[in-house]
Amino acid sequence: MLNKITVVGAGNVGATTAQRLAEKSLARTVVMVDVVEGVPQGKGLDQWESAPIEGFDTRIVGTNGYDESADSDIVVITAGIARKPGMSRDDLLNTNAGIVKAVCEQVKRSSPKSIIIMVSNPLDIMCYVAKEVTGFPRERILGMAGVLDTARYRSFLAEALDVSVEDIQAMVLGGHGDTMVPLISYTTVSGIPVSQLLDRKALDAIVDRARNGGAEIVKYLKTGSAYYAPSSAAVQMCEAIALDKKRVLPCAAWLEGEYGMKGLFLGVPCKLGRKGLEKVLEIELTSAERVALGKSADAVREPMAAVKL
Ligand code: NAI
Ligand code: 2OP
Repeated sequence: MLNKITVVGAGNVGATTAQRLAEKSLARTVVMVDVVEGVPQGKGLDQWESAPIEGFDTRIVGTNGYDESADSDIVVITAGIARKPGMSRDDLLNTNAGIVKAVCEQVKRSSPKSIIIMVSNPLDIMCYVAKEVTGFPRERILGMAGVLDTARYRSFLAEALDVSVEDIQAMVLGGHGDTMVPLISYTTVSGIPVSQLLDRKALDAIVDRARNGGAEIVKYLKTGSAYYAPSSAAVQMCEAIALDKKRVLPCAAWLEGEYGMKGLFLGVPCKLGRKGLEKVLEIELTSAERVALGKSADAVREPMAAVKL
């Protein structure tokens, strides 16, 4: 069990993440920080009151400052705004970059040894902001997207094949956007290549649905985006670190030559343990997957160059 995990942003993703962290007893204390007065305090108290029923002893503390979060082992950043009518992607980019920059300055000061798990969007660019602002080594900055995108892909495959989600092994790489790269060549059902069980047309439809998985939820919710699966994904990453599990999960990591690329965050297979990112695994890709990963990297580089810090 870790001593402390902080979740910045007590909105839909942040508060659900905090509750899941506590229910899994991954830290003695979970601190929730938000700029809105009363919200982290109220949600934190409500969550703590669920402890006797759920059977956890993790204390959940809500606050508007960073004193309580000092010396956190992990900081999950979910602070930010969603796109509103009339706002361009660049407006969202720079608004969230400003928020994430301010948050990261506080994290650097109050928890200089922490591992950051970025959730705020646009994900790959916010990871870059965290790297620029904190100067943390790449082992301690990871982005959550691949675990979520893969979970969506796996859930759709399980539905189509009428098998347990547990028996679908898969990985979605690339940036967190519609250029993401589900690896069909590595998708198996208990080791059986999925291409033996589903025809190409059905597979392509599932890949397409996974690529647009975030937008499908927004279309239903209208005023917000997904948070149950995203918080599960962030907590799975925290669990891999807290329990030093050495799990291999698709995460956004700073590339230093892997896959022939460097100087950007991109979703790649990562080994996660107590030190954070312990290894980027370089796997063989088909030529089509390699081209798709390159295009996804281009889609990350463009807003990265436009972000104002
Ligand atoms: P939300 O609007 O429910 O919560 C955001 C929270 O951030 C609000 O409570 C707000 O008060 C807070 N906040 C704003 N500025 C802050 C600051 N300077 N310090 C601390 N808190 C601050 O939004 P939701 O649904 O929780 O999403 C949060 C972010 O996560 C969004 O950027 C969203 O796009 C992103 N997201 C990313 C996913 C991924 O796969 N990487 C999946 C789902 C959401
Ligand atoms: C999602 O994929 C909004 O990035 C978020 O649901």
